[in-house]
Amino acid sequence: MNEVLQNIKNRRSVRKYQTRQIPGELCESIVEAGLYAPSGRNSQAVHITVVRKKDLIERITEELKAAVARTPGNRYRDSVGAASYTVNFGAPTFMIVSADVSRAVTPEADCACALENMFLAARSLGIGSCWINQLGSVNGDSAFLNFLRAEAGFPEGNVIFGCGAFGYPVGDFPQAPARKGTSNLVE
Ligand SMILES: Cc1cc2nc3c(=O)[nH]c(=O)nc-3n(C[C@H](O)[C@H](O)[C@H](O)COP(=O)(O)O)c2cc1C
Repeated sequence: MNEVLQNIKNRRSVRKYQTRQIPGELCESIVEAGLYAPSGRNSQAVHITVVRKKDLIERITEELKAAVARTPGNRYRDSVGAASYTVNFGAPTFMIVSADVSRAVTPEADCACALENMFLAARSLGIGSCWINQLGSVNGDSAFLNFLRAEAGFPEGNVIFGCGAFGYPVGDFPQAPARKGTSNLVE
């Protein structure tokens, strides 16, 4: 099997991390991989907020919990409300992927492309990752977004479409089980 396909198959969502931080230059490579993703009409309106301060990641967890609790009908109320919930599974680097929706024509797809590029780049560097979806459920909560703007430099007017946790896994990367998706070939 070629190296590219092997790297894709080796990527798994990691939910248990070492506390050891990933080196800055590897973090920069992951961000660059995200920014080189394709985007609808080449809008390039994706922004990646990289948080590597443990106390700020903990505050994001607390602010998220509060925002979810005050959002009527939020689908993450039970999971985020659990005492053990953390936004990062203990990963030392947390990235928020958002888009300037005044410029992007396909912001959700653009952010998903960026995140997958980032996950694959991370895996090729021996770094684990996991998509974190909960922040995208509180885009309508101005107090939460104001907090992110003030504390993490989150851009005014951007909408969050996904986040990633990044760090070295505890133990080995698990093997990918066989996939259920299908394909067909016409030639
Ligand atoms: C759009 C999207 C949202 C996801 N949200 C979460 C999440 O909030 N928390 C989580 O632990 N995993 C999340 N995942 C990871 C999936 O659960 C995971 O990709 C799936 O179970 C397949 O496992 P694998 O990534 O190890 O191949 C998300 C994945 C995608 C694509």
